[in-house]
Amino acid sequence: MSLSATPIAVILEDPILAATEPKFPATRLALQNFDMTYGVQFGDLWPSIRVSLLSEQKYGALVNNFASWDHVSAELEQLNARDFVNKAPSHGELEPENGQTTASFPASSDCSPNLRCFTFTKGDVSRFPPARLGSLGVMDYYLMDAASLLPVLALGLQPGDTVLDLCAAPGGKTLALLQTGCCRNLAANDLSTSRTGRLQKILHSYVPQDIRDRSQVRVTSWDGRKWGELEGDTYDRVLVDVPCTTDRHSLHEEENNIFQRSRKKERQMLPMLQVQLLAAGLLATKPGGHVVYSTCSLSHLQNEYVVQGTIELLANQYSIEVRVEDLTHFRKLFMDTFSFFPSCQVGELVIPNLMANFGPMYFCKMCRLT
Ligand SMILES: C[S@@+](CC[C@H](N)C(=O)[O-])C[C@H]1O[C@@H](n2cnc3c(N)ncnc32)[C@H](O)[C@@H]1O
Repeated sequence: MSLSATPIAVILEDPILAATEPKFPATRLALQNFDMTYGVQFGDLWPSIRVSLLSEQKYGALVNNFASWDHVSAELEQLNARDFVNKAPSHGELEPENGQTTASFPASSDCSPNLRCFTFTKGDVSRFPPARLGSLGVMDYYLMDAASLLPVLALGLQPGDTVLDLCAAPGGKTLALLQTGCCRNLAANDLSTSRTGRLQKILHSYVPQDIRDRSQVRVTSWDGRKWGELEGDTYDRVLVDVPCTTDRHSLHEEENNIFQRSRKKERQMLPMLQVQLLAAGLLATKPGGHVVYSTCSLSHLQNEYVVQGTIELLANQYSIEVRVEDLTHFRKLFMDTFSFFPSCQVGELVIPNLMANFGPMYFCKMCRLT
């Protein structure tokens, strides 16, 4: 029987044919999927985002405040990197837009304090050397996508806050939350025990024991969807950094790729899981407290739709009112470093750009009113 006459079911079931069949890599499936969905979502912007996603990403060096940070900062400055958090224009320096006066911008205290993160300027594709063990016995800086710091900055921690990081592993954002020095206590949770193991290692490498004790860091491996029932109305600030299609990873790595055929159902269920996690995060927040929802995906379905759907769900099922905070000032503060998508309905989205190849990173800040 010629191959063309072979019924497709026979090909799929024949172990010899299946073994010789060329594998369709998950990375290629991801690109096909993105071309279809993001081509429509971003229109003319998509080709430039696409080429940036496929190119080498840029990193930021989050200075470890528990190392001798002034020396570390000086060394990073020697490399021609700059601290994008503290070199951002102050509010007074921002240009007024559409008749808005600068006085109406929120105070800079809305940003979480004490964070220092060095990046190379737009167009400079230099790389940071690997982090080293400093003289105080902890690592000197943590290399991360600098856009990942924006959700933590937006959360606007204040001294004495009780903080929940609902999906915390491997722990870059947990580490940043601790760097603020604001956490009275910090619950860092992740469903995956192997990933909370990685989180523990990061905490041990970067944060001295007495600081971990002082910030009462508690690491757990619970299903975050249940957190609202376990500890409702408890936290001042909650970070909900959900599992998503991790767009950049999905284009480059076969391992743990959510576009593997066997994970199709899981992929389709992501927005539902994201809504459940965000709802749990909001329920765990005290009335008057704040939540930041974030993903490293460009997908409207995983970003704005999840935020809007969850706010509706909370209003209908729990009579809880949630307000989305305006982060326009944020975009303005950090637009020298990142490329932002200009027309999100709620929240902000950092889009990869060859001159500033960070992200994608979506983040939306909410206040639980009741
Ligand atoms: C985007 S990652 C978090 C990254 C982390 N915030 C960081 O900055 O390093 C999403 C995490 O959600 C976790 N996760 C998935 N389902 C969960 C659930 N039901 N409850 C809690 N965590 C979950 C995954 O194990 C994964 O580590």
